[in-house]
Amino acid sequence: MSDPVELRNVTKTYDLGGGIKVDALKSINLTIKQGELVSIMGPSGCGKTTLLNIISGLDNPTDGCVIIDGIDITHMGEGDLAHIRREKIGFVFQFFNLVPLLTALENVQLPMVFTGRLSDTEIKERAIELLRLVGLGHRLHHRPTQMSGGEQQRVAIARALANEPSIIVADEPTGNVDQETGWKIIRLIKGLNETLEQTCIIVTHDPAIAQTSKKILYMIDGKIASEPPRLVTTPSLGIPMEERRQLLLAELGWLKSSIEGLERTRTESSREAYTQAKVLYARRLERLERIVQELQEKRG
Ligand SMILES: Nc1ncnc2c1ncn2[C@@H]1O[C@H](COP(=O)(O)OP(=O)(O)OP(=O)(O)O)[C@@H](O)[C@H]1O
Ligand SMILES: [Mg+2]
Repeated sequence: MSDPVELRNVTKTYDLGGGIKVDALKSINLTIKQGELVSIMGPSGCGKTTLLNIISGLDNPTDGCVIIDGIDITHMGEGDLAHIRREKIGFVFQFFNLVPLLTALENVQLPMVFTGRLSDTEIKERAIELLRLVGLGHRLHHRPTQMSGGEQQRVAIARALANEPSIIVADEPTGNVDQETGWKIIRLIKGLNETLEQTCIIVTHDPAIAQTSKKILYMIDGKIASEPPRLVTTPSLGIPMEERRQLLLAELGWLKSSIEGLERTRTESSREAYTQAKVLYARRLERLERIVQELQEKRG
């Protein structure tokens, strides 16, 4: 199976004109494996956001190759890239990037509306479910300006999860919230990673947060460096069984609606897309069945 993220000799140079150039990334080689939770640390300006943007297809490298789930996206056109972003990647921005005129519920519904696979009712139900999962069942109809920073960030996480992405990319998801809310956010991401085996990449300046992940990458001046992590104390993040159960149920519900939606919207002209999606869903179902079985074995 292909790795979710593979970068080969990726370079990014910003050309500011007048002979001024910034080498934001210098020949980065990086492989992130399925189900890994990776933290990226490094001083301001070392290239962390640039790296995430390139992994997510929000920006193109100047040189090198970007391969996502085995697909080379390096030279993809905007239409195809948008498709990959929608289907495979959930991006949590440092400054939330919610649509200001839309409510929390509408913001979370948006990515699902674009894929057009679920019915309006199913989209709404899933959005409510996701907002409940992030602890915002009581803020469905609030607009971003009517919510706190931590609440907006949790809406942004719910939105990133909407299309059940295989890769979650979060750029300083706790950068603008208090410590307690920050831990809630990390707990949620960790819960998703452990329960649904989603691959997660988190940029953080907080070593305590970085140490909750098995792998920490350090960046310095556009390159990945190896450096031993500093020792700090980290609160325990045991994910209770009930939370895992809810995550699994939400995932199963989404899968069921998506498969039904796929059958409903099936046409002769979309035969290839239909077959591809069907294989994808079958794989996800297989993965879920394995996770459920492992959990049952652990309990039993
Ligand atoms: N659009 C741009 N045009 C020119 N230079 C840029 C652009 N975006 C980023 N840079 C430069 O590239 C380098 C890497 O920036 P990047 O935003 O990736 O840093 P970062 O590690 O995310 O920093 P921070 O921790 O402050 O968010 C910096 O020197 C920055 O000034
Ligand atoms: Mg940044």
